[in-house]
Amino acid sequence: MRIAMVGAGYVGLVSGACFAEFGTDVCIVDTDAGKVEALRAGRIPIYEPGLDKLVEENARDGRLTFTTELEQAVRGADAVFLAVGTPTRRGDGHADLTYVYAAAEQVAKAASGPLVLVTKSTVPVGTGQEVLKIVRRVRPDLAISVASNPEFLREGSAIGDFMRPDRVVIGVEEGPSGERAAAVLRRLYRPLNLIEVPILATRLETAELIKYAANAFLATKITFINEIANLCEKVGADVHDVARGMGLDGRIGRKFLHAGPGYGGSCFPKDTLALARTAQDYGAPVRLVEATIAVNEARKAEMAERVIAACGGSVAGRTIAVLGLTFKPETDDMRDAPSLIVVPRLVEAGATVRAFDPQPAHAKQALPGAVTFCISALEAAKGADALVLLTEWNEFRALSPEKLKAAMAGDVLLDLRNVYDPEAMRAAGFRYQSIGRP
Ligand code: UDX
Repeated sequence: MRIAMVGAGYVGLVSGACFAEFGTDVCIVDTDAGKVEALRAGRIPIYEPGLDKLVEENARDGRLTFTTELEQAVRGADAVFLAVGTPTRRGDGHADLTYVYAAAEQVAKAASGPLVLVTKSTVPVGTGQEVLKIVRRVRPDLAISVASNPEFLREGSAIGDFMRPDRVVIGVEEGPSGERAAAVLRRLYRPLNLIEVPILATRLETAELIKYAANAFLATKITFINEIANLCEKVGADVHDVARGMGLDGRIGRKFLHAGPGYGGSCFPKDTLALARTAQDYGAPVRLVEATIAVNEARKAEMAERVIAACGGSVAGRTIAVLGLTFKPETDDMRDAPSLIVVPRLVEAGATVRAFDPQPAHAKQALPGAVTFCISALEAAKGADALVLLTEWNEFRALSPEKLKAAMAGDVLLDLRNVYDPEAMRAAGFRYQSIGRP
């Protein structure tokens, strides 16, 4: 089998490298010549654990190649995956499909024989049908099938998620063209049969909606526990135990009930918004998701106010140490990270911010120039009046509370991810606050 992957972004690179690992010949195409050059030289533009090794090994064995020439990649391919960006369109919250449609047209023009054109980017319901129209218009002469194969990868564990997914969703057209597409995709995912991964074949629209519904549900689950955490704080309950007590009910499940400063990342904020807009357009509003979006946005801003309140109502002239800036651990991704709201607000309120993140490359560009980036957590804590833990990188769990406290000038510790044991932190001399715990 041979495939082309259009787009060397996060999804394209991970999926391309993993398909190559499955034994398929993969050619990844990107218009950015600099990026392609870097990838050929073995430099990976994103941080994802294990990806560098996977790319290196498969490139060395000749199964994974990179090019800027779409035509060359598409010629002779059994399937072409579209993994181009679908950012939020300015002004209306819809997903911007310009790149998807342009790529579909280019692929159709370049095709030299029958192939399956698969959208892997997260696209609104109905995009598959639009792609189908483009393909039929551009190449009425060729048997090009259109399919939707959404990804459910989490940053930081994307390779494991691809290799051992909970399920694979394949959306296809009705009729023989769809059956052909499903057969090709099943062959590509054949290694997963060994571990009995369910492969769900559906209509195009259904596959597209599964992705949005899953992400919106998870975002709502997190937002639900965040609001319960607020209530816990008022009534003296412990949100950890509430989440555990709820999660042990098999119908609810334990995962994604970890209260925190609000969800961020490249998917949940964008996908919930796009789903809400699509649903409004069709006259079937998803009010619960709309509420989730609003509650989560407000929560990030509330976190900054919490820090200010913990410092006695003003941070003017105070030094605040912030640990963790990325939207979650094991990534350098800053997209919609709570730190993007919290840190600028603290700076604006007159605080001096000393920050540390193990992967600070993007944070340095995204945060105000006034922020001092430190080389370790302990360094950031030096002379700080308050310490705020914003992202739960593992290395923060191992920090010595005594050393942290000794480095600081003050004693305020705000643990927005509930990483530390309240008793231990109080014993170390901190005025400790976490989320939803007495
Ligand atoms: C998510 C989905 O999990 C994945 O299936 C989809 O394809 C892309 O979006 P990702 O954005 O990488 O993946 O991150 P995820 O681990 O799901 O976390 C998203 C956000 O929710 C993070 O900001 C995280 O801190 C937050 N979160 C997650 C919580 O606050 N509490 C939780 O219990 C879980």
